[in-house]
Amino acid sequence: MKKVNLAVVGATGMVGRTFLKVLEERNLPIENFYVMASARSAGQTLTFMGKDYVVEELTEHSFDKPIDIALFSAGGSTSEKFAPIAAAHGCIVVDNSAQWRMDPKVPLIVPEVNPEDISWNSGIIANPNCSTIQAMVALKPLDDKFGIKRVVYSTYQAVSGAGVAGWKDLEDGLKGEAPKKFPHPIANNCLPHIDIFLDNGYTKEEMKMIWETRKILHDDDMKVTATTVRVPVFNSHSESINIEFERPFELADVVETLKNAPGVVVADDPANNVYPLAVDAAGKDEVFVGRIRRDESVENGINLWVVADNIRKGAATNAVQIAQLLIDAMQ
Ligand code: A2P
Repeated sequence: MKKVNLAVVGATGMVGRTFLKVLEERNLPIENFYVMASARSAGQTLTFMGKDYVVEELTEHSFDKPIDIALFSAGGSTSEKFAPIAAAHGCIVVDNSAQWRMDPKVPLIVPEVNPEDISWNSGIIANPNCSTIQAMVALKPLDDKFGIKRVVYSTYQAVSGAGVAGWKDLEDGLKGEAPKKFPHPIANNCLPHIDIFLDNGYTKEEMKMIWETRKILHDDDMKVTATTVRVPVFNSHSESINIEFERPFELADVVETLKNAPGVVVADDPANNVYPLAVDAAGKDEVFVGRIRRDESVENGINLWVVADNIRKGAATNAVQIAQLLIDAMQ
């Protein structure tokens, strides 16, 4: 098997550290490994596969050396500047920021859903938004079978999605301290405000879910709306998803389709209090689906409760799966 040179950019961050963990677990064939971050953490060491690696400052010259794949999770402005530099040097960037996701020249990939889209990359592949990724894993097999007409997302998103600073705001808030990252206390609270507000009254997080769903499912006309909410949970996003299908269906068929879907675990036994929970999903790579029931207010509708670890499947694991697809294609 051909080994690759791989870099992690933003290696000291919440997602960056999880990149290292997932890369270790999946044992990718790596020849040379590089960890990069800002000047603030240059010189620190990070352990990978039992070996210490010194964090390099990310600069315009970081990609002068041969690097096949770089996993980026260092914010949009870092990706905007450095992903094209890496790509110009022949490196393929898997970018976790929102910077390139809606660029028509950049594929947006969930490996269980649209792996074929890696074939038209020109050096940058985008990792979707965490809330979108887990929804796509559940929605794709249903769209294939019953045709999705309309989706209503309502999310309950963990503070880890706002990085180290978001996590700390909940920790400190539980001790009565004022928030530094969020505009209001997150402890004992729900904030219907993730990312910035746009002119249409939606937050950017909500519009990301809408735009990215259409791009990943290759359906520009799909009707999608969203309300995204930050809740006082450390890790794992939960989502209520209401779906209207084009075609009539049997509920048992929906359950069966989800049970057979790659990356999905159905946890749905309400009589025994079994349904997906954030604390159960944390640390796992699957998307958990439950509370599967008919929406009795419309002709062909269902409701789902979908939970996944937003740092793993919602970010690091998805990016590492994309790297795996790239490595497979290089063999
Ligand atoms: P650093 O630790 O040096 O600040 P999180 O979202 O969890 O806070 O992580 C953000 C990650 O992105 C960190 O690894 C951080 O590095 C990195 N980062 C932020 N700004 C830059 C930058 N300008 N260049 C390189 N890495 C950056």
